[in-house]
Amino acid sequence: MKRICKEMLMLSSLLVGALLVNAGARAADIIVKPGQAIQDAVTRAKAGDTILVEPGIYKETVYIDKDDITLRGVIRASQWPTLEGEKIRNDAVLYSGSGITVENLKIVNYKGNGIMGQAGNNFVIRNNWIIDAGIYGIFPEFGKNGLIEHNVLSGIEDAAIYVGMCDNVDVLHNEVFDSVAGIEIENSRHQIVDGNYVHDNTGGILAFITPGLPIKTAYDIIIRNNFVVNNNHVNFAIPGSIVSFVSKGTGITIMAADDVVVENNIITDNEFIGIGIAGLEFISAVRSDPDSEPNADRVQILNNLMWNNGTNALPQVMEPLKAAMPGIKGVDIANLGQGKGGCILEKDRYVSVGLDNYSKCELTSTADTLTYTLAEPVPVRQIAAGEKGKAAYFGICAGCHAYSVKMIGPPTVVVKALYQGRPEALAEYIANPVKKRPDYPEMPPQNYISAEVRLEVAKYMLSVEK
Ligand code: HEC
Repeated sequence: MKRICKEMLMLSSLLVGALLVNAGARAADIIVKPGQAIQDAVTRAKAGDTILVEPGIYKETVYIDKDDITLRGVIRASQWPTLEGEKIRNDAVLYSGSGITVENLKIVNYKGNGIMGQAGNNFVIRNNWIIDAGIYGIFPEFGKNGLIEHNVLSGIEDAAIYVGMCDNVDVLHNEVFDSVAGIEIENSRHQIVDGNYVHDNTGGILAFITPGLPIKTAYDIIIRNNFVVNNNHVNFAIPGSIVSFVSKGTGITIMAADDVVVENNIITDNEFIGIGIAGLEFISAVRSDPDSEPNADRVQILNNLMWNNGTNALPQVMEPLKAAMPGIKGVDIANLGQGKGGCILEKDRYVSVGLDNYSKCELTSTADTLTYTLAEPVPVRQIAAGEKGKAAYFGICAGCHAYSVKMIGPPTVVVKALYQGRPEALAEYIANPVKKRPDYPEMPPQNYISAEVRLEVAKYMLSVEK
C-alpha cells in the first residue's frame, strides 16, 4: 500500500513537471541584450512568447508578422532600451499580427513611423517614449480592439497618435506635444480619448473623416478628461498634406465625424479655437467622397472648462461676436458646418458661434461607459486567398495614400494614371522606391512584404475606384 502511494506521488510529480515544461514551451521569455538584434528574437519567438529587451541602443527596424507576441523593454535604474533610427531608418516597430503588445521602449530619430500596426487586432501600446520619430508616432491602422496608454510623444511631423480606420480603441493617459496633430481619430468608430495631456501641438485632438480611404465613416467617439492646452505650435507638416491645413492654435477639431461627445476637458490658451466643428466643405482641398457623409452630426458638448481660447480666431468668427459683445477677447467654440442634431449642456458657459441649432443635451455624463475595448479578444482578421492585395492596401498603403487627397503620398488616382496596366512596375517601385517628387518625402520601401503580396497590392491599388 505504502509503495503504491509513493509510486503515485512520483507519478504525479512527474506529471506536474511535464506540465510545467509544457507551459514553458508554450510561453517563453526571450532576452535581447545590447549587441543582439531584436528582430532575431522575433524570428525565434512563438505565439505567447515575451521578448524582453535589456537597456541599451538598438539600431534596427523590428517587423512582427506573428500573433500573440509581447515586445517589452526592461527598465533598470532608469536605463531604457532605445531604438535609434539615426534619421536613416524609416520605421521602428511594425506589426501585422494580432495580440501584439509593445511596451517600455524609447524610440528616437526615425523617419517614418514609431510604432505602426497593419491590420492587427487586440493590441496594447503602452509606456513608450517616441521622440522625433517621423510622420506618425503611434499608428494602428485597420485594427480592432486596442489600448494605447501612458505613452509620451513629441516632435512628430503629422500625428503623434494616429488611430486610423480602427474600431474599439481606448487612448488613455498619454502626453503628446510639439507635434503637428496631437491625437487623431480618423475614419474610426467606438473610440475613447480620456485623460491625455495634449499641449503645444499645432492642433490638439482631432476626430474626423478623410475622404477616399477604404473605411468611410467616423462615429461614436468620446473625448473626455483631457488637458488640451496651448496648442499653438507652428504647423510643420508636409505642405499640401491634410494636416498641413490644421490652423495653429486649434484645441479640438471635429470634422465630419458623428456622435462625438466632448466632456470634462480643460481646454485653454488655444489661440485659433477651443473646439472647432466643421464639415468636409470647410477644407477646400478635401474633395468629397460620395460614400462619406460630409457633416458632423449629433455632436454633444457636455461640461468643459474653457478659457482664453480663440484670441486669434478667423475674422468671420470674431467680427460678428465683437459687434454683439464689445470688448470680447476670444471665442471658445465655433461651428462652421451644417451638421444636424447637435447639443450643448450649458451654452452660456462659453463664448460660441454657430450653435444656434444646438439643443440642450439630455445626456449629462458618459461615466457609465468605462471602456470601448472588448472583454474578449476578437478573432484574428482572416484574409481569404484572393484578398491579400486588398488587405495590404487597407493595412499599409491607406496610411499614406487616399483616393483623391494628398495625405503623405500622392493620391491613388495619380498612381493609377501612372501605372495603369503595369502592376509589375508598381510592385517593383514599392520594393525599392526612389525619390521622385521634390514636394513629397521619400516612400519607405515595402520589401518586408512578400513579392507575391507586392504584386497583389499593386493590382488592387490600380483597381481602387474611390
Ligand atoms: C509612410 C507613407 C507611405 C506608405 C505606407 C506607402 N506609401 Fe506609397 N508613397 C509615399 C510617398 C511619400 C510617395 C511619393 C514619393 C516620391 O514621389 O518621391 C509614394 C509614392 C508611391 C507611388 C508612386 C511611384 C511613382 O512612380 O511615382 C506608388 C505606386 C506607391 N507609392 C504605392 C504604394 C503602395 C502600393 C503602398 C502600400 C503597399 C504604399 N505606397 C505605401 C508614401 C507611402
